[in-house]
Amino acid sequence: MNRVYIKTYGCQMNERDSEAVASQLVARGYRMVAREDEADIVLLNTCSVRDQAEQKAIGKMGYLARRKRRDPHFVIGFMGCMAQNRGAELLERLPDVDLIVGTQRFHHVPDYLDSLTAPRVEGAPVPSSIVDTEDEAGSQNTIREHLPDRKRVSAFVSIMQGCNMACTFCIVPRTRGRERGRPIEEIVREVEGLAAQGTREVTLLGQIVTSYGRGEIPAKDGKSPFVQLLERINAIDGIERIRFTSPHPRGFNADLVAAYRDLPKLCEYVHLPLQSGSDRMLRSMNRPYSIGKYLEIVASLRDSVPNMYFSTDIIVGFPGETEEDFRATREVFEEVGFDMAYIFKYSKRSGTPAETMDDQVPAAVKEARNQELLSLLHGQSESRNRSLLGTFQEVLVEGRARKGDHFTGRTRGNRMTHFDAGERLVGQLAPVRIERATASSLYGSLVLSGVESKREAALAGAPGSHC
Ligand code: 5AD
Repeated sequence: MNRVYIKTYGCQMNERDSEAVASQLVARGYRMVAREDEADIVLLNTCSVRDQAEQKAIGKMGYLARRKRRDPHFVIGFMGCMAQNRGAELLERLPDVDLIVGTQRFHHVPDYLDSLTAPRVEGAPVPSSIVDTEDEAGSQNTIREHLPDRKRVSAFVSIMQGCNMACTFCIVPRTRGRERGRPIEEIVREVEGLAAQGTREVTLLGQIVTSYGRGEIPAKDGKSPFVQLLERINAIDGIERIRFTSPHPRGFNADLVAAYRDLPKLCEYVHLPLQSGSDRMLRSMNRPYSIGKYLEIVASLRDSVPNMYFSTDIIVGFPGETEEDFRATREVFEEVGFDMAYIFKYSKRSGTPAETMDDQVPAAVKEARNQELLSLLHGQSESRNRSLLGTFQEVLVEGRARKGDHFTGRTRGNRMTHFDAGERLVGQLAPVRIERATASSLYGSLVLSGVESKREAALAGAPGSHC
């Protein structure tokens, strides 16, 4: 009765939360399994950003509830953003759910499962559902455990929770609460521990990482707390690459641009949410920057690091978005030349200011705009990848591909790369000569004679060869 399966919806933050819960459960004697049908307990870690994400998790839970009716010892629960957002109301629709745990109470899951699975004498009443969506001061510091004995070449590290912005479309401030950062020393200790276990790349996570520590940690030599944190992580032996997600254009200042130039481990890839290419839409979304400011950040990053890669989030069909607004988005999308993008069709979230705005955009228009941007993205991404043909790229070897016999890893620009390798190279940085490129992936051959290949890479003037 102690086999647990966790299914995660949504962002990397959710993935990291699921992992922390899994590691706490393992410490308590539970066993994590890879398949839902092998589990005695299934937990869904949910996302509320769009209605579709909520509907998927609700549909899945309906299916699990049918199994529970046949097998009353089967335990099912919701965790995370939708649990926080909807709480006990979920039980009206899904009365069989045993557990609903919000975003600040993940670390109580082992206790709750203990009590739900405690041996009961025959005929004793079935325990009633547990709902816990309380706020808890300091809960950001509880997301620090990683699963033991699992070599993780690339790891997520949560540096803060919550969001103090007030984007008119967004539910996250409600599901994740106010901003709370973890102390620098604790984050550094966690990353040192990961490095000691073989982690080579960390991705720092927060809803708005550029707000990390503001108002708590003073600026030093003109450097924000976030840049101070990046410097500390850059100094950790064994860590070879640093990434982070997501910054906010408003907090993306000269110190952060300079960090890309000065910190060799900070990869030349940034995910910088744009949302719209129209100033009018940005105002209506309550995004406090202009397209001019966004393009300035892009230009200064390109000045600092010529082969920078850009990724973004875009919402199409926000209320009131006209053809002209959308054309502006297309133009900025092409001007920046995004290599990667998450394109979302606007989804009404209850209780947000945009929910009641006039001029909601019809679904068909949203769909058409979505397709248009996806096709632009495909072209841009493919041509950036094709520009790498014949170059040597530094790849961090992550492991065997899920399908097939070859290995995969990512370039510093975060491009998925496929190549032949051996187990002993897992966790190593290796030069790969790029021979084939599609919009989503690179294919190439490992160059094994280390020193030789670095020289070759330098001669070929390969992007990324400075690292
Ligand atoms: N509808 C569509 N997309 C949304 N996002 C946030 N809220 C909504 C919404 N109501 C997108 C934004 C954000 C990303 C995480 O999700 O682009 O950056």
